[in-house]
Amino acid sequence: MVFETHSETDTMAFASRLAPMLAPGDTVLLMGDLGAGKSVLARGIARGMGVTGPMPSPTFTLMVPYEAGGRKLYHYDLYRLSDPDEYYAAGLDEFVGGDGVALVEWPQMAELDVAPALNITLTRGAEDDARRIEIENDGVAGFDPAALSDWRDADGV
Ligand SMILES: Nc1ncnc2c1ncn2[C@@H]1O[C@H](COP(=O)(O)OP(=O)(O)OP(=O)(O)O)[C@@H](O)[C@H]1O
Ligand SMILES: [Mg+2]
Repeated sequence: MVFETHSETDTMAFASRLAPMLAPGDTVLLMGDLGAGKSVLARGIARGMGVTGPMPSPTFTLMVPYEAGGRKLYHYDLYRLSDPDEYYAAGLDEFVGGDGVALVEWPQMAELDVAPALNITLTRGAEDDARRIEIENDGVAGFDPAALSDWRDADGV
């Protein structure tokens, strides 16, 4: 399923619609090049879940936990992971498929293969601020594509 956004604000709005579809134990795997918009999408989901205040980048800490309205959220960025063993050695696997929602940038660095998950791939579009957002749902029970129809890319598959 393919969607298209045309600005950072647009991607934030798109992401906030995903928030109510996610339940504890669900994971969102965010794939795409540097600057594709993975962090923007992650922030939009967090805001949609009610997270307020600053959202520091998890680039160096690898994971930043949040709690909003009694719901837990874990934001990962595994770009700087040296190898998958480090992910397990640091106990980072505990919060994926656990008691909250996990948002994971660069999941391929830990060779993550988890479900239920939304596998999201972001790519740049023809214009500077256009982004193509491809979503493959692997078992997320609450996923509701109809709620995202405003962004459906008519040329997508
Ligand atoms: N439609 C769009 N959606 C999201 N971001 C956009 C869009 N158009 C332009 N941008 C810009 O693209 C950049 C996306 O940055 P972001 O940090 O989210 O990328 P990233 O995929 O997380 O990269 P990294 O791999 O470095 O973590 C921001 O500067 C944002 O303003
Ligand atoms: Mg990022």
